[in-house]
Amino acid sequence: MERLPFIAGNWKMNKTVGEALELVKALKISLMGIYGVEVAVAPPFTALYPVAQELKNSSIELAAQNLFWEEKGAFTGEVSPLMLKEIGCQYVIIGHSERRQYFGETDEMVNRKIRSAIRSDLKVIFCIGESLEEREEGKTFSVVERQLVEGLKGIDEERMGQIVIAYEPVWAIGTGRTASPEQAGEVHRFIREKIEGLFSKRTSERVRIQYGGSVTPENIKALMAEPGIDGALVGGASLQAESFTRIVRFKEI
Ligand code: PGA
Repeated sequence: MERLPFIAGNWKMNKTVGEALELVKALKISLMGIYGVEVAVAPPFTALYPVAQELKNSSIELAAQNLFWEEKGAFTGEVSPLMLKEIGCQYVIIGHSERRQYFGETDEMVNRKIRSAIRSDLKVIFCIGESLEEREEGKTFSVVERQLVEGLKGIDEERMGQIVIAYEPVWAIGTGRTASPEQAGEVHRFIREKIEGLFSKRTSERVRIQYGGSVTPENIKALMAEPGIDGALVGGASLQAESFTRIVRFKEI
């Protein structure tokens, strides 16, 4: 089963509107004519609308970094799926480890967010991954399985086409310490088996699983050569056009 590689840049809490526009303008040029890979950027909320305008007629897609599950109402400080959809977001990142770690997102909250995004016809980059402590205690597979099963509760199989999974070992995020292609590949295989168990073989063969955690132009090629790694969720190296472009153009390296 051929799966289209998918590279997404998670800008986190970086880039003013001015800086965001500068970066996407550069990416539009450096990624012009790119094919055989899907590309998305995830600016902070304040930059989503201007970036969406800049990305009209471009193949680069737009992702938000979070949402709240209600459509509207008295939820000060939150942003709804409809609001994201309206301004042209195709994707939303849900369950990033920084949201789980610093903002108390539980598996149940992640699941509500995923179901809400799906209902609004947004596509989801659903992040899962173990901490260093969990890995050292031999809990990698049980943690990843719990996050996966709880996060996907109540999702119909036909909606799985809207979901991309990002395996991001927490110990590799922003640390410069990448999982080796073999380490990542092992967990990706495990995730795919679990998807088969939850849904079917066909769905498990179709679902794309990105790797995330200190992805750079130097290590992307080896990661992408690993069967079962279908793309990358890139943090730090997505903040400059040059390094993100080299990652997206990994086939040409
Ligand atoms: P990093 O972040 O590439 O800076 O490690 C990845 C992520 O958190 O998505």
